[in-house]
Amino acid sequence: MPQATLVGLCGSLRADSFNRKLMQDAARRFEAAHGGRFVEGDLRLPLFDADLEAQGMPEAVTELADRVRSADAVLIACPEYNKAPPGVMKNALDWLSRGKGWPMEGKPVALVSATAGRAGGERTQYILRLMLVPHRAQVLTHPEVLVGQAKEHFDAEGRLATESYAQRLDELLARLHDAVSAAA
Ligand SMILES: Cc1cc2nc3c(=O)[nH]c(=O)nc-3n(C[C@H](O)[C@H](O)[C@H](O)COP(=O)(O)O)c2cc1C
Repeated sequence: MPQATLVGLCGSLRADSFNRKLMQDAARRFEAAHGGRFVEGDLRLPLFDADLEAQGMPEAVTELADRVRSADAVLIACPEYNKAPPGVMKNALDWLSRGKGWPMEGKPVALVSATAGRAGGERTQYILRLMLVPHRAQVLTHPEVLVGQAKEHFDAEGRLATESYAQRLDELLARLHDAVSAAA
C-alpha cells in the first residue's frame, strides 16, 4: 500500500506538554518502522457555539476536519484532567461532529496518554473511547500506552526513555499500521 498519513491530535495546548512529546515520539517511531507521513491537527479552536457555527464553520475547524479526513489513521495523545479528558479534546470532537460527514469514520485510531499521576491516564482513555463512539472510528483496544509519572520517562530531547513503554508504543503503532493496511 502507499505510505500512510497519520494525523495526531494532542489534548494539551501547553508548549512543554508530555502528551505532545509522546505523540511526536510516536510519529517518529511510526515513520522509522513503517514509513509514511505525520501531520498534527491544531486543537486551538474557538469554543463550540451553535451561534458561531450558524455564521459559517470557523476556518480552524475546517482545516482540522480536512486533515483528519485526508489521513489514513489517527493518533490521539490525551492528558487526564480530573479523571477525564480535558475540554480541549471534547471541544475538538464536538466541532468534528458538525461538518460534512464524519472525518474519522472507519479510520483506525490509537490512543496514548501521559500523566503526572501513576495510572497514566487509564480513566481518560476509557472515557475517550466512549466519546469516540459517535465518530464511527475503529479505536484500537490494545496494547494500552499509559505513561504515568511522565516526567521520569522522557529524555532531554523529549523521547520516551523507558524501554518498556517504548516497546508498548511500538506494538500499538504496528497494530495501527496493520489496521491501515487491512483497510486499504
Ligand atoms: C486541571 C488539571 C487536572 C488534572 N487532573 C489529573 C488527573 O485527574 N490525573 C492525573 O494523573 N493527572 C492530573 N493532572 C496532572 C496532569 O497529568 C499533568 O499536568 C500533565 O503533565 C498534563 O499533560 P501535559 O503534560 O500533556 O500538558 C491534572 C492537571 C490539571 C491542569
